[in-house]
Amino acid sequence: MNNEKEKILFVDDDESILDIASEYFQHKGYPVITAKNGLEAVKILENEKIDCCFTDINMPGMDGLELAEYIRKIDNTIPVIIMTGYPSLDNTIRTLKNGVVDFLIKPIKLNHMEVCLKRVLREQLLFVENIILKKEVKGKEQLKRLNRELLYKVEELNILNKIMSDFTITSSSSDIFKRLIDTTIKIMHADEARVYIINNAAPFEITTSVSNSAGTDKAIEKLIMETVSNAMPLLISENKGACGLPEDILSFMVVPLEIRGKVFGILTASIKKSGIHFIEKDLYYLSFMTNKAAYAIENLALYENIYENLFSTLYAFVKTIEARDPYTQQHSNRVTKIAIVIGKEMGCTSEELDILNFAGHLHDIGKIGIRDVILLKPDAYTEEERNIIKKHSIIGANIIGQIWLLESEKEIIKSHHECFDGTGYPDGLKKEEIPLLARILSVADVYDAISSDRAYRKKMEKNKTIKIIKEGRGTQFDPDVVDAFLKLHDDGVIEKIT
Ligand SMILES: [Fe+2]
Repeated sequence: MNNEKEKILFVDDDESILDIASEYFQHKGYPVITAKNGLEAVKILENEKIDCCFTDINMPGMDGLELAEYIRKIDNTIPVIIMTGYPSLDNTIRTLKNGVVDFLIKPIKLNHMEVCLKRVLREQLLFVENIILKKEVKGKEQLKRLNRELLYKVEELNILNKIMSDFTITSSSSDIFKRLIDTTIKIMHADEARVYIINNAAPFEITTSVSNSAGTDKAIEKLIMETVSNAMPLLISENKGACGLPEDILSFMVVPLEIRGKVFGILTASIKKSGIHFIEKDLYYLSFMTNKAAYAIENLALYENIYENLFSTLYAFVKTIEARDPYTQQHSNRVTKIAIVIGKEMGCTSEELDILNFAGHLHDIGKIGIRDVILLKPDAYTEEERNIIKKHSIIGANIIGQIWLLESEKEIIKSHHECFDGTGYPDGLKKEEIPLLARILSVADVYDAISSDRAYRKKMEKNKTIKIIKEGRGTQFDPDVVDAFLKLHDDGVIEKIT
């Protein structure tokens, strides 16, 4: 604890008062400084830290009240005590205004001055502690506020990040629509979210597993069409019945999906449980999300367009090869159809079926590199010719391999002559080493080849073709694929599509 007493400044033009007060308080252990007028006091205050000031009012240059005002301005924690022989109401008011803490009337007894000093110093201590406390409280509040803001920002960043990553990797438009619905329900705590595609000036709902398609209410349809025409997101934070929304919807949002300024779809979100409702921030998130989704859809459309063009070009090559050999016309087309029904039967995803469609049509594209004299030979192949023919799967994979993003298709084309027991070509892969879609394509390819005429032989009898497929179960072919094929065959599905 610091035992040093408070430093006192006495200001009076009466030197005898200064002498008496100095002597008394110094004797009591207080450091004392004196000044003969206000201006002299100001100079002292510029260089010294004092704890209390006693001042006369009437002094030449700068009077006591002006000095009090000056002190209040530089440090409002320094108590000022006014000493005057003639107190007037006017002076008293000015004194209080200037933050003077006490008033002593001359002649002043020294012990009164001491009592007064102790009191004002005690009050000053409380005052300073109060200020510090207030600052601390303010500081803590500020910290809490900053913390809240920080948490809020982190949450916002997390949400925006999730939206960004959700819509960066998407494989199809339907996937994007499903993600829109899922993310709206998850992030916005919506009870229901729906996506509509605007078709001929009427909303057509995209059916997904998440939204239940109970039909669109007329009032909702009206809000959707309004949003389509003004391209502005709409927030109905609390449904008070003004828009004719169904009563069970407590809070509602409608956000447009736009590509290059044209609204092509709408996302709606509803809250049906009481207790929460959408706020402006939710509308911001939803708009951010639909923006990202629309962007992803546009990119996908551009990509699908390129993909379609590429597919058409490559398929034109296949048709050229098939056109050279009247016996293989439509072979790739039929193989693809058979492979797709087997794929569906085996539970392939729509993405896998797309790959099967591409690879099925182009599986023999490598035959473009085989000379006609071999390819169109009317007799059975020699060993050497067979080895040349076998190269078509690698040639095909190399052609497709030139194209970025067609890795799966390339692997299937390369492996469509692999056998389940490892006796196939080009790599002698076994069982699951062979991609599933290639195992499917293999059954479809062989079935179509033996059940149609060839240059060197007539097509086989139906029961003979099935016998060959059955015999190949577990050796040439994947048993599961054969089982799926046979089921489809027994059900008449294969016959119908070929
Ligand atoms: Fe082939």
